[in-house]
Amino acid sequence: MAETEVVDLVAMGEDFVRDPYPVYAALRERGPVHKVRIPEGAEAWLVVGYEAGRAALADPRLSKQWKNASPSLPIGNPGTGPHMLNSDPPDHERLRKLVVREFTPRRIDQLAPRVRQITDELLDAMVALPEGRADLVEALSFPLPISVICELLGVPMLDRDAFRTWTATILSDPDPAVRVAATGEVSSYLTDLLRRKRLAPGQDLMSALIRTTDEDGDRLSADELLGTAWLLLVAGHETTVNLISNGVLALLTHPDQLAALRADMTLIDNAVEEMLRYEGPLETPTFRFTTEPVEIGNTVIPGDGELVLVALADANHDSARFPDPGRFDIRRQAGGHVAFGHGIHYCLGAPLARMETRIAIRALLERCPDLTLDAHPAALTWRHGMLLRGPHRLPVRWMS
Ligand code: HEM
Repeated sequence: MAETEVVDLVAMGEDFVRDPYPVYAALRERGPVHKVRIPEGAEAWLVVGYEAGRAALADPRLSKQWKNASPSLPIGNPGTGPHMLNSDPPDHERLRKLVVREFTPRRIDQLAPRVRQITDELLDAMVALPEGRADLVEALSFPLPISVICELLGVPMLDRDAFRTWTATILSDPDPAVRVAATGEVSSYLTDLLRRKRLAPGQDLMSALIRTTDEDGDRLSADELLGTAWLLLVAGHETTVNLISNGVLALLTHPDQLAALRADMTLIDNAVEEMLRYEGPLETPTFRFTTEPVEIGNTVIPGDGELVLVALADANHDSARFPDPGRFDIRRQAGGHVAFGHGIHYCLGAPLARMETRIAIRALLERCPDLTLDAHPAALTWRHGMLLRGPHRLPVRWMS
């Protein structure tokens, strides 16, 4: 058999980081799966296109468990213990059920007024800045989701700056050893936090999960509790940060769409769906590993723990599913995008992320009627790595 060509995404440098869509589209023209070299330092099989992407996300032969990863893969397990996103059935169902139970739509609805309040406080501080300029990531996109997830979990004293550095390292640092070290630090931090919560429980989600562990260790072990707390904290903020930033950036660079939304705020729900489709926060989801040979198109991916990534960014830009995919159109039928994944691992926090983003963007536009971008879009720098997609900083300006 001919040696499979490896497409070196790392060698494409900053051009690929800034705008990966044409590269993915060109690969899609050639077929649904390609062997690639990724910035995380490994070779992976990249699935492109909408149909193939959705099928791979739901394929039970692609495991989420690190024990199924080929030992030859130069990637460190960034997790701090078992949780639903690094588990397969039947553990997956058990771990997800326990959290879904505590993560009810009622709890999310109850949070909305508080999300509004936090947003207002952040915007008060932002508009009080003397020169009418700010980095929106610093002023709103980052602090809002982390405040909300901390309140939901009942973590008022979370050391946000340290946590921000740890999660950024775990999710984006190219060096596996550095990622694993940061994971150890988060692990000790959370262990201590859980110990303190156990001594002084509240009405929050973390206390509820601790109660479940204490009452019935068969359903959630101490390790699983740690892993779940870690997952919720990381998944609950890093992604939403980028949805708010990417969404605002899309509006500011498409003045007609911004004007349409300002003129009719009932479009906000659909606008958020289009933001998820057009520039979703996750370029590819978390790692999957083959447990048996998997044929995609005419390619057979070997079944011995090969790393498989699904290009969510490309699935959402597949012209066979979304006509004229490069056009940002807040009125289009954006439903059916895979920005929150697909299958059993479909994002548990999707209602929360949507609610936060709607509130944040609406309040921002109302508070700053003349908001503009304070940088050339081409001058923005983007987060590295295959996982997260979003600008490091988003300079904005308004009339003081
Ligand atoms: C815009 C924001 C968000 C996006 C784009 C997003 C995206 C995703 C995606 C794509 C997955 C599936 C990953 C995979 O299959 O490998 C996922 C899973 C998950 N997300 Fe989110 N997420 C967001 C916000 C949140 C929030 C706010 C939470 C809240 C706590 C959260 C919690 C989770 C959890 C627990 C899972 C694992 C579900 C499972 O394995 O069954 N996410 N998310």
